[in-house]
Amino acid sequence: MIIAIDGPAASGKGTLAKRVAVHYGLPHLDTGLLYRAVGRDALARGIALDNAEATAEVASTLEIATLDDPALRTAGAGEAASQVARHPAVRTALLAYQRNFAQGELGAVLDGRDIGTVICPDADAKLFVTATPEVRAMRRFLELTGRGVAITEAAVLADIRARDERDSTRGAAPLVQASDAVLLETTNLSIDAAFRAALDLIEAAMSRAGRAG
Ligand code: CDP
Ligand code: CDP
Repeated sequence: MIIAIDGPAASGKGTLAKRVAVHYGLPHLDTGLLYRAVGRDALARGIALDNAEATAEVASTLEIATLDDPALRTAGAGEAASQVARHPAVRTALLAYQRNFAQGELGAVLDGRDIGTVICPDADAKLFVTATPEVRAMRRFLELTGRGVAITEAAVLADIRARDERDSTRGAAPLVQASDAVLLETTNLSIDAAFRAALDLIEAAMSRAGRAG
């Protein structure tokens, strides 16, 4: 059972993916952390983020154990992630790890930008989670300030808009809804309501695919 959850920044895909994974007893992979860690490690080694070859080398030697790093949750790490994520060679270097994770014994829930389109095109259920940029910025702003980060809501909105634009217009695995993904619009949904809607959509996709949920 493989569940793909994609969407733009702060749409709630990570929160949903975690809860869906617990519900079905599946492992969960937040694939954004991989790109965030590549950005972090490249900067730490003094490698320019527009250097495709050197950042791909960083990606191919990434230590998965280092994904558990609170510093990866900052806006700066998200920006660095989106810069290295443009390079096809970086994406290729991270592909096998993601596919292997998905193809574990139980299956998995993965969230990111290209899970339904590139990483797991044959996923049993695919969700594309969205909300307006303003609502996403407000959610991320509350999340960051709740952790004590000093930032303005306007700065968060600018970051989200810049990343949405870069992620949607790049040539390699752009942020786009897979043709067989179902849209989950969460602008006016609480986390609990979005979770219930996600489960309904997943159950419907499973029964369409001829499997019990
Ligand atoms: O949580 P948020 O949506 O803000 O960010 P994230 O999912 O951690 O992703 C950070 C950046 O990594 C994105 O802006 C994308 O550029 C990139 N990314 C990607 O290209 N493909 C993925 N499957 C996941 C993330
Ligand atoms: O993974 P992604 O960047 O798409 O978003 P997230 O980290 O799951 O959610 C961003 C923030 O929005 C978190 O603080 C969530 O608790 C919050 N959220 C919300 O308030 N309402 C929702 N329907 C979904 C998420």
